[in-house]
Amino acid sequence: MSYPYQIKSAEEYQAAYHKSITDPEGYWAAVASSFLWRKRWDSVLEWNFNTPEIKWFNGAHLNITENCLDRHLGSLGNKPAIIWEPNDPEEHHRIITYRDLHHKVGQFANVLKNNGVSKGDRVCLYMGMVPELAIAVLACARIGAIHSVIFGGFSAQSIADRLQDAQAHTVITCDGAYRGNKQIPLKSVIDDALVQCPFVTKVIVLTRTHTPVSMIKGRDLWWEDEIRKVETLGIHDCPAQVMEAEDPLFILYTSGSTGKPKGVVHSCAGYMVYTTYSFVNVFQYQPGDIFFCTADIGWITGHSYILYGPLSAGATTLMFEGIPTWPDAGRFWQIIDKYKVNTLYTAPTAIRSLMSYGLGPVHAHNLSSLKVLGSVGEPINEEAWQWLHQNIGKGNCPIVDTWWQTETGGILISNMAGVTPSRPSYATLPLPGVDPILVDENGQEILGNDVSGNLCIRHPWPSIIRTTYGDHERCRTNYFATYPGLYFTGDGCYRDQNGNYRITGRVDDVLNVSGHRIGTAEVENAINMHSGVIESAVVGYPHDIKGQGIYAYVVYSSSHGDENLSRQDIIQTVSRIIGAIAKPDKIQFVTGLPKTRSGKIMRRILRKIAENEPNSIGDTSTLLDPSVIDEILKNRI
Ligand code: PRX
Repeated sequence: MSYPYQIKSAEEYQAAYHKSITDPEGYWAAVASSFLWRKRWDSVLEWNFNTPEIKWFNGAHLNITENCLDRHLGSLGNKPAIIWEPNDPEEHHRIITYRDLHHKVGQFANVLKNNGVSKGDRVCLYMGMVPELAIAVLACARIGAIHSVIFGGFSAQSIADRLQDAQAHTVITCDGAYRGNKQIPLKSVIDDALVQCPFVTKVIVLTRTHTPVSMIKGRDLWWEDEIRKVETLGIHDCPAQVMEAEDPLFILYTSGSTGKPKGVVHSCAGYMVYTTYSFVNVFQYQPGDIFFCTADIGWITGHSYILYGPLSAGATTLMFEGIPTWPDAGRFWQIIDKYKVNTLYTAPTAIRSLMSYGLGPVHAHNLSSLKVLGSVGEPINEEAWQWLHQNIGKGNCPIVDTWWQTETGGILISNMAGVTPSRPSYATLPLPGVDPILVDENGQEILGNDVSGNLCIRHPWPSIIRTTYGDHERCRTNYFATYPGLYFTGDGCYRDQNGNYRITGRVDDVLNVSGHRIGTAEVENAINMHSGVIESAVVGYPHDIKGQGIYAYVVYSSSHGDENLSRQDIIQTVSRIIGAIAKPDKIQFVTGLPKTRSGKIMRRILRKIAENEPNSIGDTSTLLDPSVIDEILKNRI
């Protein structure tokens, strides 16, 4: 497969960028013409950021799975689409060619249809990193059902919230999932969630761990039985549902500064074009390369750069079920060696964790197949960047530092491997079609270079968020109302002398813990559910491995009990309400929180204390009771 839109030099990048800003519609129409359409668009772009309403390729008809599967059957049919490496290196890996994948997606799409799922229905997927997760995602897209994948680390309560919000009547899960030496009982978590979701009528369960599960008559079905049923009926292929360009493709929940996660909605055509385009350009994918993205499909990185981007580009994508440190800290390196991986796309937190094991596990494997390295999810610190560059890339592999978000669908700011220069801790330059702007608190544009501000984007790119599911107003207020006429990212950013961008972290109440986005309000809500808690305030603090850790200040009613037990109890509560990823790292019991006279918690002060910068606490004279600060400082953990 060839990519006529692949940019091959810095000069080509400059020209493409210029064209994309001066004539965005012409630019994207040319890119889009390399895809498979049932009907071409009537207009390339219609948009209004105030409402917001954004339509790319309006009037076009397509199905993203025809681009990811059918169009490759001729020349790439026997080529591996997915290489699957199991959690346990002793277990057999699987190689699924484009032809196999097309067949399996068709089969499962028929299973969904047979169970009453049709276009526009929401289907929730709560599975481990098994090939059937990829198959189920694509099967939903095949019939136009809207998938909502929930990361396997979320609790029953979080699943119930998401199922209710999306009104998903169908759930696809596994009996269990393997993660290192642990087994996660996925079906049993689903059973707990479904107590609150009587509207769920079908649960399809894939066998993976053989963990005993209870099946509810009429509701719960085995994946394997359902496949046999469609086979017996003699149904084979599943024709793709014809979709409108702006029909929703999926919902993915993400955290914001308010308590409830929001369902980010992406639509079919723009998302397809942009994920493929950015995949091919940022990583400089060459036909035959093996691409290994270590994310989980439960997050946007997995959606865009394990599945849709690579598959639409006809690439070979490697999907790994396990974790980087089991059975030992050489697991990534062993996989790279085993499959002769060409591109490794991973997260700074994983790199920092692997660095702590020294170079022994690295040197045990041959990494000479690597050509490109990528980083995503949080700012990459210079030390991790250098370690990756020297020890994994052996000084020869460009590192792409890719900045983007669930809401952006694809990478917006990044160097392009070997095409535009990299610079440690800088995402560097915007991709064509992306027009970044820095603004101050009042929304005034900050012009020039060597300046910092809040990062916004001026013009829509094809994979921009379309709405937040069931609540369009929330989409408007969250992203388009802070600075009218602009998309606000929530990130702070520095632009250097040469116009390179460096993301400095969130400027709202969102934490980034091990590359996972967690709202402080969400954690506070969970802590406050504990019967002994009167109120709480949660802030982030620098953490060597996780990037940010979670520091909770808790006003607790029963001061007589064992403090450590109470801490454990609160941690358990957060785990039950949100999931293990949101567990506080530190809990400090306090008698009161610093508040203004109007009752607002002064998080800025709490953040400084958690960061161990007591000298920069600043003015406390507006506090209702400044003495609480002394107590908090004295008992800091
Ligand atoms: O703060 C930025 C950070 O991750 C946030 C988006 O999180 P999420 O929607 O979960 O998506 C993560 C994967 C795309 C951003 O607002 N972030 C992401 N990539 C980078 C980053 N911060 C700095 N550098 C990056 N490369």
